[in-house]
Amino acid sequence: MNRDVVVAGHVCLDVIPQFPPKSLELAPGALLKVGPAIRATGGAVANTGIALHRLGFNVRLVGKVGDDLFGREILSILRGQGEHLAEGMIISRRDTTSYTVVISPPGVDRTFLHCPGANDTLRARDIPSSAFAGARLLHFGYPPLMRQMYLNDGRELLRVFTRAKKAGLTTSLDMAEPDAASEAGQIDWPALLRNVLPQVDLFVPSIQEILFMADRPTWQRIVKKHGTVSIPRDIDLVLLRKLSGKLLDWGAACVMIKLGDQGAYLRTTPDKARLEGMGACRPANIDAWLRRAIAFPCYQAKVVGTTGSGDCTIAGFLGGLLKGMSPEDCLKSAVAVGAASVEAPDATSGVPSWSTIQKRLRSRWRSRNSCISL
Ligand SMILES: Nc1ncnc2c1ncn2[C@@H]1O[C@H](COP(=O)(O)OP(=O)(O)OP(=O)(O)O)[C@@H](O)[C@H]1O
Ligand SMILES: [Mg+2]
Repeated sequence: MNRDVVVAGHVCLDVIPQFPPKSLELAPGALLKVGPAIRATGGAVANTGIALHRLGFNVRLVGKVGDDLFGREILSILRGQGEHLAEGMIISRRDTTSYTVVISPPGVDRTFLHCPGANDTLRARDIPSSAFAGARLLHFGYPPLMRQMYLNDGRELLRVFTRAKKAGLTTSLDMAEPDAASEAGQIDWPALLRNVLPQVDLFVPSIQEILFMADRPTWQRIVKKHGTVSIPRDIDLVLLRKLSGKLLDWGAACVMIKLGDQGAYLRTTPDKARLEGMGACRPANIDAWLRRAIAFPCYQAKVVGTTGSGDCTIAGFLGGLLKGMSPEDCLKSAVAVGAASVEAPDATSGVPSWSTIQKRLRSRWRSRNSCISL
């Protein structure tokens, strides 16, 4: 069956042991009793993919898992959301499934033990041409966590995007922040982006990761001074304009930068021909999308957990595009789906149907204060 949207890339299983309320000391050699493990899917494929499915879009998921217990668990969780969601997944006999053990005792900072597994070996040729058949949009995340996708200045990633563009799809790309000391942290990200962005219609990274990749001197200056990048303190419209301008120059048609609890920023190309070449989801009203800079704060939400909120924000934006909305309404839908997602502890169960989101947007849903406004 034809699917409107293909969500491809990183997928993993999160295994989260439940700790008793009293804190435990994680001393070497100790045996500590914990509760049953929560198992949840993670990664762009599961998060943005399930969010789009819950919004009511017709989605095909393409990620690679091993032929093992964790792989079967991922497929079973996906089927639990929608019987067809596991159909496009690639099962590799040569790889093991990617997983993350989340060690999060009360009152202590979380530690993640991450095994990249099959995400590190996914190549363009693993994705069959039939995956794109009949689709209008491809969303791909997170190349920094997928070794074959970031090596050789993103040659494999470019192959995926070139094939999708040739098949007439509109393309979207999300990133993740690599550990600066790791192999992925050491590669020439500007070279990779210059290579790939001409084939990317919508580039949708978060501010921390794109500052690290596209403006390392500013990232280094901030981290040296404060330890981390904080949005109200270190980011303003001047910096957002400069960064997004660079990404448009490198070839993207539209750039949406996620700004954590400060909302999201959208900038579009001044090049009409670039928008016209956006493929099956190209805007009907090109002029409305030309040379735009828009920022929206977050909608007010009862925050329970922010896991996957960036991925859900992307789902809201892509949903707007699939529905042919204006840039303003796409960005509003993005932060609306992001806000709905933080009202549940896991990545996607707070995401309701598209009509519920639009109804909530038509009600008096108030925005949070934001330091970034246009
Ligand atoms: N407190 C909040 N209230 C409402 N919405 C929020 C809140 N925090 C985050 N969001 C939404 O979630 C998005 C998350 O943006 P962020 O910059 O954290 O993306 P990210 O780092 O890619 O997230 P992820 O951890 O999912 O990868 C924001 O753009 C916003 O739409
Ligand atoms: Mg993210």
